[in-house]
Amino acid sequence: MGNTFDERAATWDENPRRIKLIENVWEVLEQQLDFNAIQTVLDYGCGTGLLGYKMAERVNQITFCDTSKPMLEQVEKKRKFYGYENVKTLCSDFTKDVLPKEKYNLILSMLVLHHVKDIQKIIASFSQLLNPSGLFCWIDLDEEDGSFHLHDGSIPHHGFGKTNLENLMLHHHLEMVFYTNELRILKEIEGELKEFPLFVMIAEKLTI
Ligand SMILES: C[S@@+](CC[C@H](N)C(=O)[O-])C[C@H]1O[C@@H](n2cnc3c(N)ncnc32)[C@H](O)[C@@H]1O
Repeated sequence: MGNTFDERAATWDENPRRIKLIENVWEVLEQQLDFNAIQTVLDYGCGTGLLGYKMAERVNQITFCDTSKPMLEQVEKKRKFYGYENVKTLCSDFTKDVLPKEKYNLILSMLVLHHVKDIQKIIASFSQLLNPSGLFCWIDLDEEDGSFHLHDGSIPHHGFGKTNLENLMLHHHLEMVFYTNELRILKEIEGELKEFPLFVMIAEKLTI
């Protein structure tokens, strides 16, 4: 699946609906997150870094991770342009590769995990990488009928329902502390603009 994202990286930021969606998500996160308590951040499946860069000036260190090198090149371009010294990039797939040694106060992942088959493995990796009381912020499609990806059989998850999320979090020592599915993602499907519900969930790493 990496290849299609590779091809789209250079023009990823040109979609005004995508930019608007990021603004809407950021509005929710800015209200929910206390940046005084968040020093180290990981944006997993960061794409061009649209969401992570919103908080780059508020934290000590942010790592942008993706499996697509062209996406990470866009992140690097922005880092150089704005002169950020607290930005790192990492090309890795946490379902397969050795995990980084550092721990994070916040892990973000937007519209990535419905593409990741081994959802248990990826959430276990995030849980392992979070500091005690660290936060995992997952933004993704609510349950849908598969039409978001035109019923493409290679997409492993047609969104995630709230109960499923709660159980998944608890299984990995994470407790859901915030959830909304009021935001909508607009996508053109066969010439028509269709709305899909998007959830924003925040879960806290439990101290065992
Ligand atoms: C739909 S894009 C979302 C990008 C960004 N989060 C945003 O909202 O603009 C999904 C991104 O996840 C990346 N990706 C897909 N599978 C991945 C995996 N297993 N590990 C890390 N990144 C992955 C893709 O390369 C792509 O950049």
